[in-house]
Amino acid sequence: MKPLSGVYCLRPLLLFGVFSLLSANLWAGTDAALDHELHRLIRTHGLTGDPAKDKEIPDIQTPAVQLGMRLFFSSSLSGNRDVACASCHHPLLGGDDDLSLSIGTGVIEPDKLGLGRTLRDGKAPLVSRNAPTTFNAALWRWGMFQDGRIEALLDGKDKSTSSAYGIPSLGSNGFTTPDVAYPRTDFWAGSNLAQAQARFPLVFVEEMRGHDFNPELNNSAYRSKLAQRLGGYDPSGNSLPEAVTQYWQAAFRQVYNAPDAPISTLITDQNITDLLSQYERSQLFVKNPWNQYVKGDLNAISSEAKQGALLFYRQPGSGGFGCVNCHQSNFFTDEGFHNLLIPPIGPSQADKDVTEAHGVDKGREAVTEKPEDRFRFRTPSLLNVEVTGPWGHNGAYTTLDGIVQHMLRPRSAALAYDPRQLQQAGVQTDHLAANLEAMLPYAKGLPEYEYTAEDVQQLVAFLKTLTDPCVKDAACLKPWIPADAEPDLMHVQDKF
Ligand code: HEC
Ligand code: HEC
Repeated sequence: MKPLSGVYCLRPLLLFGVFSLLSANLWAGTDAALDHELHRLIRTHGLTGDPAKDKEIPDIQTPAVQLGMRLFFSSSLSGNRDVACASCHHPLLGGDDDLSLSIGTGVIEPDKLGLGRTLRDGKAPLVSRNAPTTFNAALWRWGMFQDGRIEALLDGKDKSTSSAYGIPSLGSNGFTTPDVAYPRTDFWAGSNLAQAQARFPLVFVEEMRGHDFNPELNNSAYRSKLAQRLGGYDPSGNSLPEAVTQYWQAAFRQVYNAPDAPISTLITDQNITDLLSQYERSQLFVKNPWNQYVKGDLNAISSEAKQGALLFYRQPGSGGFGCVNCHQSNFFTDEGFHNLLIPPIGPSQADKDVTEAHGVDKGREAVTEKPEDRFRFRTPSLLNVEVTGPWGHNGAYTTLDGIVQHMLRPRSAALAYDPRQLQQAGVQTDHLAANLEAMLPYAKGLPEYEYTAEDVQQLVAFLKTLTDPCVKDAACLKPWIPADAEPDLMHVQDKF
């Protein structure tokens, strides 16, 4: 696609044209046209550069959020005490794990992150999806997980929180979760999407639960058991080392300002998930160059990125690729579900959660049981996308160029997909061709754009302006990472 010519703002071009070869005014002139057009598009799409407006964002420095952070880093929330939330969602790894497919319990070296994290007995990865970032978790309004199996049912404009705590008589329909039949209300889901979500990694066998700790219990009884173990009040005597229990007891007493309350009323699964969600919701990373640009700082991004933005926001036929049709708003997602034909690598969700014996991950259909939802996955936010790879719901793409090219021509890209790009050992690719064959008939209406290498470069340059510099800066991320001296936390090694 040709760069935008100066037709929109001729006057500055003419004015500066004479001097242009000798000065930077050439760029000012070219960009004036670009800026003019981009700001028109920015207005058309209602962008404000402020994705967190009207959101309550917990402050990472407050004691409750700090306790939530320690829980997020504690392996004691996993059945075998060998995996923490942070094992798959580490702030220094972009709020995820840098793996195509996450590795949960049953690892050789629990403290390892990234490619060094491998399952015992040479097992292939068992989790069938890529871990999305927890960064900006507070910004989701409608649902969580890539198939939206946590979904807000609350009436009203902003569905991300339910002040009514999920009680319908107070006017809220709360959240639906995998603990209930879709789309019923789960009355135990808690007060916001992140809290409703946090209840599930704990009980997924491949992620944190494992097979050994009270395997007979249902989800709800199992969560209570975990809380009892953490608080050292399990009547059947499951316990952690005393120093560990005392550490958590003291921490909860302090945060809830309850020196004398029975510990069973403080270290509960509801409080644990509430604290976890506060920590996740404190991870707001939206101070990026693009938002500065949207707010009027025309020098915040390069000309190349501006060209990329035009390609992103313009419609097909008007010089762009219409990425905005799905990656909408300041949060870069419509929170809807679409089939983009991401190459089906890895074990299938269907193998585990759905009765069907073999087949590809059916995405949204596994939740709604509607055939039209087959192979649809939620549109990801693109904020900080530079640091959240590998990309796609199963991490099939290991470069940003690769996923962008896929978005431009999903069908041809999927058919030409090269699994040798995967860096993680053991990712299942045996059924790739057959599974892709099964997906093709459902991928109707996908575009096949003509594009140049320059287009890809410009789109990637634009996507990189969505990175908040903090997420690449260990010093800036420090408040979100517990100090090494804390007991009972994962001490992640070898990666940094
Ligand atoms: C074994 C790795 C692993 C562990 C441990 C883990 N997660 Fe995740 N997490 C994932 C994967 C994979 C997904 C995506 C699953 C899906 O979409 O079906 C996910 C999804 C999420 C999401 C949804 C994000 C979104 O964009 O919808 C949140 C929030 C989250 N996890 C928080 C947590 C918390 C809190 C814990 C600890 C209680 C935790 N995770 C433990 C791998 C993990
Ligand atoms: C029809 C809706 C739609 C359009 C149009 C669209 N996307 Fe996407 N995009 C999605 C969905 C859905 C996914 C996730 C697909 C999956 O994982 O199965 C996605 C994934 C991505 C990802 C990977 C993000 C991650 O965290 O893994 C990037 C990058 C991306 N899109 C960029 C673009 C660009 C650039 C364009 C325009 C050329 C574009 N998209 C057009 C819906 C769309």
